[in-house]
Amino acid sequence: MSYKALQINAPKPWPHNAWYQAAWMNEVSDTPLARTFLNEKVVLFRDKDGNAHALEDRCCHRATPLSLGDVVDSGIQCGYHGLIFDGDGKCVEIPGQDSIPPQAQVRSYPIVEQQEIIWIWMGDPAKADESQIIDFPFLDDHENHPHGHALMEIDCNYMLLVDNLMDLTHIPYIHKKTIGGGDQKGQVNAAMDVSKTDNGVHYIRWMENIMPPPTYAKGAGWGPEVKVDRWQEFEYVAPATVLQWTGALEHGRNAKENRNQDGGWNTHIWHTATPETETSCFYFWASTNSYKPADTEETKKLHEAISFTFHEDVSFLEQQQACLSADPDQVLVDIKHDVARKPARQALERMIRTDAEEMAVAAE
Ligand code: FES
Ligand SMILES: [Fe+2]
Repeated sequence: MSYKALQINAPKPWPHNAWYQAAWMNEVSDTPLARTFLNEKVVLFRDKDGNAHALEDRCCHRATPLSLGDVVDSGIQCGYHGLIFDGDGKCVEIPGQDSIPPQAQVRSYPIVEQQEIIWIWMGDPAKADESQIIDFPFLDDHENHPHGHALMEIDCNYMLLVDNLMDLTHIPYIHKKTIGGGDQKGQVNAAMDVSKTDNGVHYIRWMENIMPPPTYAKGAGWGPEVKVDRWQEFEYVAPATVLQWTGALEHGRNAKENRNQDGGWNTHIWHTATPETETSCFYFWASTNSYKPADTEETKKLHEAISFTFHEDVSFLEQQQACLSADPDQVLVDIKHDVARKPARQALERMIRTDAEEMAVAAE
């Protein structure tokens, strides 16, 4: 089946020609894993040699999900009448039939395994350029940046999660018990240094000589007398990823000149939200313990604390989606604090426009 035959003409709120995180590497095994990305049903599995594959989750015989079948020596076997498809989606066996019609195949998706992530390319395979995959080396460095990773399935459009990360003035409100304690005015008034990039937006904001929030103070072992210089640095990379480095050092240690000092508290956070449908996404995240890397208990505690914080966001995002879905045409009002969120949306819109043009050319 050609890629051309699978073109979808209606405009979509996401680019197809892009890499998306499909799974964490350790989620994919010889047990088929069914996931929907960009409204397309996909099955992920590892063959007997340990190589991961992604196929359309629909048998070409009678449209049964292949994820209901089993991984066998030569590929994945449909659970209904036993057709076997190799990792490229080609039918290699029809039980009781000698010849295999050439059209007996399912779509296969390019995938790449890198830095604990399985990436999937949902668009034209000819355009799948591995050099575009985002580099986040911390995920490969368990000695200096130990971390756990997680997946949360959220009932909201993936860009609501990006919006959330582009406007941190939500922190003193949603996260008052975790990362939002301490100086609330400092949080809302912190100056944003925003710059556009080729495929997204970058910002950093500093809060100097402030009380650290409870999560930081607990992790670093700071008493109530300690004041800190705190930074929050974020980069949105269209379509669906946000890279974060956030932390604090005791006030007086010149954090602004050099953040790479021992001690204090800091974490590098991976966020990506792969669209499942227009109103749901897979939120993959990982948060490194880059301040006490030898302390495995601290790595576990940090993961639990961040997980708690992100669940605070998720409950808001799902309620926000419910309101938007109930009345999608009502106009929303931008405020000063949308200074990074707006260019992030514009970067995505540019990417979607380019994608639509490329798909139109491919369909000709
Ligand atoms: S539906 Fe898959 S083999 Fe028949
Ligand atoms: Fe948040």
